[in-house]
Amino acid sequence: MKVNNICCIGAGYVGGPTMAVIAQKNPDIKVTVVDINEKRIDAWNSNNFDELPIYEPGLSDVVKKARGRNLFFSTDINSAIIDSEMIFISVNTPTKTSGEGKGFAADLKYIESCANQIAEVSKTDKIIVEKSTVPVRTSEKIKKILNSKNKSIDFQILSNPEFLAEGTAMRDLQIPDRVIIGGDNTKKGNEAIQSLVEIYSSWVPKKNILTTNLWSSELSKLTANAFLAQRISSINSLSELCEETGADIEEVSKAVGMDSRIGNSFLKTSVGFGGSCFQKDILNLVYISRSIGLEKVANYWEQILIINKHQRDRFANKIYSLINKESLNKNVCILGWAFKKDTNDTRESAAIYVANNLIKSNIYLNVYDPKVKESQIFFDMNYINGNDKKNKEHISIYNNPIDCIHKTNIIAILTEWDEFKDYDWKNLYKKMSKPAYIFDGRNILDKVKLESIGFNYIGLGR
Ligand code: NAD
Ligand code: UGA
Repeated sequence: MKVNNICCIGAGYVGGPTMAVIAQKNPDIKVTVVDINEKRIDAWNSNNFDELPIYEPGLSDVVKKARGRNLFFSTDINSAIIDSEMIFISVNTPTKTSGEGKGFAADLKYIESCANQIAEVSKTDKIIVEKSTVPVRTSEKIKKILNSKNKSIDFQILSNPEFLAEGTAMRDLQIPDRVIIGGDNTKKGNEAIQSLVEIYSSWVPKKNILTTNLWSSELSKLTANAFLAQRISSINSLSELCEETGADIEEVSKAVGMDSRIGNSFLKTSVGFGGSCFQKDILNLVYISRSIGLEKVANYWEQILIINKHQRDRFANKIYSLINKESLNKNVCILGWAFKKDTNDTRESAAIYVANNLIKSNIYLNVYDPKVKESQIFFDMNYINGNDKKNKEHISIYNNPIDCIHKTNIIAILTEWDEFKDYDWKNLYKKMSKPAYIFDGRNILDKVKLESIGFNYIGLGR
């Protein structure tokens, strides 16, 4: 099928950037991104490109060029469905908070609602592309809904998981390591696969486009995230061992990563991984394994999350213990709230958990992040502990680091923003109460230089 019109349901961190790049690379295809969230769509349509709902380096340039030409953002979901030959489903698939699988399984209600709506309004044959991350065999459920509600139309389902990482989304989309397209091994299934291959071929070399069956494609996505998170928990668990043995995790990580069979990515120790997906996708993998009786497999993957929580907890405990031991000022400066640098996304950020642990111990926090807004920080805290009054009493937000560190003894670095490395640390040191400590939860600062200024530097695993 020749695709002239694409609809993408879900204008979030995946739908927005992914469709912007598809539109940029395929100027002859009209791409309409739709969402039920009117505010989000308004922000995508804003003339102030600094106000796009997502901060991602390079994104606003691409949107600037394509928006209004062949890229559109709208809340008119029905029209976009009717007009398109191909529909991407790019909605959220959070962990279930109630019912069967609560706390582990992926909640597919948003996916199911899209499938229902597509079935109800479609008038012509369509290719439906699962872009969201879903449990293996979800496409079967989508197919069932579509076919049971609308028997007159041929729906082909493809799985095309997204591997972009936030902060580097534009580069990941423009030069992907691979694109995976899973579909049915039937004549129509193969034709649908080829339609999507053609769209990606506008910029991705054919050798990097992998076609598979539906289930392999779905499971590859969960597995890729689990492998990445597993490396972080492995290195984080060793950071504690380094602290006890005198080894330096940075040296160990470098030595291990130089083995070409292991490779050096995702071996950076941290206060714990965050982001909307690693935890939810591993919980999902654990749930799938456990629900088919593979208890040992489930336990193996669950351990990644146990270590991640342990790393966040022990970081907060170290700060708390030091304050008590040395009778320090109970105000701590937190630099960084986003779950990683170059994004304003805070979902599952380690900062939220560390902050919650500290305020539970009655510690007051001054917070500064270059991209995260005050309202988001209070939203995150209220979501985790439901105690708005305590959060307001214990947390103050600053729009610059100098005011944020004022009169504190302790700085905790929780996001690896580049600007933290470039600070005039000598000047910041002068403004702090003494003794001054830096807890570097990302191991990004120069220990020797900071110690020569007078700081007590406490990194992870060193
Ligand atoms: P998001 O929450 O940023 O965006 C999802 C959007 O879908 C929201 O704006 C929401 O309003 C909209 N939506 C939900 N139901 C809808 C409906 N019925 N009709 C119209 N709009 C609807 O989520 P995201 O981060 O973009 O993630 C989407 C999916 O992609 C998830 O499955 C996630 O696991 C996966 N993923 C995310 C990333 C990432 O970096 N964030 C990377 C790869 C894959
Ligand atoms: C991750 C994957 O990298 C993407 O391939 C995937 O598409 C995406 O999840 C998803 O499915 O949502 P993302 O969460 O955006 O992307 O960012 P990452 O770069 O993977 O970082 C995740 C977390 O791990 C961050 O908190 C980061 O600081 C932390 N991290 C990363 C470490 O602690 N150490 C490392 O060595 C690397």
